[in-house]
Amino acid sequence: MCGIFGYIGDKEALPFLLEGLKKLEYRGYDSAGIATLHKGKLFVTKCVGKISELETTLQKKPIGGEVGIGHTRWATHGQPSHVNSHPHEDCKSELVVVHNGIIENYLELRRELADRGHDFRSSTDTEVLAHLIEEKYAGNLLLAVREALLLVRGSYALAVISENDPQKIVAARSGSPLIIGHGEEESFLSSDIPAMLKYTSRITQLENGEMAEITATETRIYDQHGKSLAKTPSLISWDPESAEKGGYSHFMLKEIHEQPSAIRKTIEGRVEADSHKIHFDELNLTEEEIRKVNRVVFTACGTSWHAGLVGEYLFEQLAKLPTEVEYAAEFRYRSPIIDENTLVIAITQSGETADTLAAVWEAKARNAKTIAICNVTGSTIAREAHGVVYTNAGPEIGVASTKAFTTQLTIIYLLAILFGKRRGAISEKEATSLISDLISLPQKVERVLQGESLIETVADTFRSATNALYLGRGKGFPIALEGALKLKEVSYIHAEGYPAAEMKHGPIALIDKNMPVVVLAFSGRRYEKTLGNIEEVKARGGRVIVVASEGDKQIASQADEVIYIPQTSEALSPLLAVIPLQILAYYIAVKRGCHVDQPRNLAKSVTVE
Ligand code: M6R
Repeated sequence: MCGIFGYIGDKEALPFLLEGLKKLEYRGYDSAGIATLHKGKLFVTKCVGKISELETTLQKKPIGGEVGIGHTRWATHGQPSHVNSHPHEDCKSELVVVHNGIIENYLELRRELADRGHDFRSSTDTEVLAHLIEEKYAGNLLLAVREALLLVRGSYALAVISENDPQKIVAARSGSPLIIGHGEEESFLSSDIPAMLKYTSRITQLENGEMAEITATETRIYDQHGKSLAKTPSLISWDPESAEKGGYSHFMLKEIHEQPSAIRKTIEGRVEADSHKIHFDELNLTEEEIRKVNRVVFTACGTSWHAGLVGEYLFEQLAKLPTEVEYAAEFRYRSPIIDENTLVIAITQSGETADTLAAVWEAKARNAKTIAICNVTGSTIAREAHGVVYTNAGPEIGVASTKAFTTQLTIIYLLAILFGKRRGAISEKEATSLISDLISLPQKVERVLQGESLIETVADTFRSATNALYLGRGKGFPIALEGALKLKEVSYIHAEGYPAAEMKHGPIALIDKNMPVVVLAFSGRRYEKTLGNIEEVKARGGRVIVVASEGDKQIASQADEVIYIPQTSEALSPLLAVIPLQILAYYIAVKRGCHVDQPRNLAKSVTVE
């Protein structure tokens, strides 16, 4: 939440800052601001709204300078307004701070600072940082920031520039991500890697507790005690193109279409082509440890939690392991009964979700083995877990998660087979057949995508709905939840996902001719029962849109609309069935004029509790 971008070099900072902030806009977009240092003087421009507003303001009145920091905000403390936008200044307007995170003791600090004569302009928690640094400044900006941070509780990624020390950016991290990019005669600072991929692929991740003093040609990193640290930058292999829209109108649509190749990349290197053997060296678990696992707990938030729900079905079915799924925010505050034989699998696209990170810490504190299924290389959760399995989906920029979800499911499917084999729950032959099904999946995903225009037509009949119900049984239930979440977040239509059998226990009261009901009725042992649910909806005048398996002739007479997906095993059907629901949500949102890639109130990475 909130994006930070910084530039220091031999060129004008403004274009880099605007470009960087546009790429980070998915992290928050209620207001934005930029500060530059030009000939030793600070210039600050901010405004409410998206980066395009800021850009328009800056076109009218550009600010110069070869050093600058920018911020795109997702409000936590203080409503979106000009005064609450970052950067925040000290009393003398000599230094500015941009911040991502929450300063938990800000009220107490603010009171003390105000008593000492500091003049506050905003109602944000961040402003206390500017005043604390002002107070601590005695000729060394880095030192002033460090001393200020000693007084602060909470989470932060922050960047500071000052007229008193104009040739540097000081940055610090505790909780929220911050990455330094090393170019030729220029350095960058960013909340994520894709925002600076265009300029450099040589990066240094700041770890929690670390601070950096960044000049155009040099970066010095220190620990919280001020000890200098020698860190070697890493090279990122993501191609800069992958963080662009590539001709699609939205990142969400591009990312939906990237799913066949993303799934292929996720399988590649993990499954031997001839023998179909699975390799997961990155699990960091010995054969013995795998065999000893007697319980699996998936923990995650949002879409990743839905992937965990599918994981529960798959691990129970294929690995015969007792499995639970926990919302990360609940898991961390309960007293979970886990021990060294419990495997806690944290699922996270970003690897930065605050609650999921805290859940990993909780699991580690209770001696459980932890694995992260993660998309972002080197992210905090990827580094905190004992083992990390990357989804290889490439950067996911659209706020609504799509390719991250299907690649998470791909990994979970492979892990369930691996554990099933090691535990003797499935035979070699069964495993081989399950893997063959997976290898043919990307082609089937391509076929689902070919049906896009039909789904767009279905979206037409749905666009003015105010409520929708999604029903599924078995592994169709998490997909019903995911379909409903996709619709809610991008189109603002209220939608609920339910296990189809639960409909009679309440939701059926809602059904009338205005209520579209999306039913997942792919082949499998629950198919007949699902047909029964469709009849119940139709009998009450509901409008039924069914996702069914190709070859199902019967369904067309029962449903108002049918979207067919290719035949696949029941275990893999969630991976195919979710795609029409992503496309449906996308087109409904577009037809309603919604801002698909940046839905209101949302942010891509939720780095605060
Ligand atoms: O980065 P993570 O996978 O940890 O994010 C978890 C959720 O915030 C995320 O899945 C969210 O629900 C998406 N916006 C859903 O599309």
